[in-house]
Amino acid sequence: MSIHTEIKKVTTHTLQRMKNNGEKISMLTAYDYSFARIFDAAGIDILLVGDSASNVMAGHETTLPITLDQMIYHASSVLRGVNRAFVVVDLPFGSYQSNSKEALASAVRIMKETGAHAVKVEGGEEILESVKRILAAGVPVMGHLGLTPQSIYKFGTYTVRAKEEAEAEKLKKDALLLEEAGCFGLVLEKIPAQLGKVVSESLTIPTIGIGAGMHCDGQVLVMHDLLGITTEFQPRFLRRYLQLGEEITAAVQHYIRDVKSKDFPNEQEQY
Ligand code: KIV
Repeated sequence: MSIHTEIKKVTTHTLQRMKNNGEKISMLTAYDYSFARIFDAAGIDILLVGDSASNVMAGHETTLPITLDQMIYHASSVLRGVNRAFVVVDLPFGSYQSNSKEALASAVRIMKETGAHAVKVEGGEEILESVKRILAAGVPVMGHLGLTPQSIYKFGTYTVRAKEEAEAEKLKKDALLLEEAGCFGLVLEKIPAQLGKVVSESLTIPTIGIGAGMHCDGQVLVMHDLLGITTEFQPRFLRRYLQLGEEITAAVQHYIRDVKSKDFPNEQEQY
């Protein structure tokens, strides 16, 4: 008899069962091994290797500059830290929109080179052919509608999307198309809570919201926002669970003082 208890890995089936049972799904971004390991051990259901790495890891203003190779580097680091969580990786801007063949090639690279469990793409009808081709190869796909950051220059603003009837109707239509194509889940970003409710109730697959209200089947946040590492960003939907930026600053200042005052290292801290 093994003394090790078997870890039950989260799969697309687990996520569907959670929606069916009304159990909310927790999702958080991760970009490296150390944090992924902590989040996985804490019990997170889905880890998203988001292209928000472009912002929070690389310091770019938008998600557009990050490359497929850079996403693969982040994703493979995350996968090495995970035992239980389902890991979804963003296909970066420019790696899936031009044609479905290129989209599949990008998804295959992610799956082969990182060990990820699924990919995520932004958009609806416009990218449906790419979504279908990736799905046909057996790769699970998560959709992403609403405020899709890869289209920020088209929107021109980070304000709430789909407040107007026409955009809300298109979003509902796109959500259904993605479900019918075979997506296993859908991220809804920064849309009215009422629309998040309508979409979540009309789909059989789980919706994961970020600024899309309490009726989504799960919630996602960017880890740097949740932990209080980013401080200048304060949208209404963001709940900060730590002020880690402040704590890190205090710890580093303490270390600097100890080095300068010759308090560190002491007798016990040397060989
Ligand atoms: O890249 C990302 O972090 C995301 C989330 C905001 C959903 O796509």
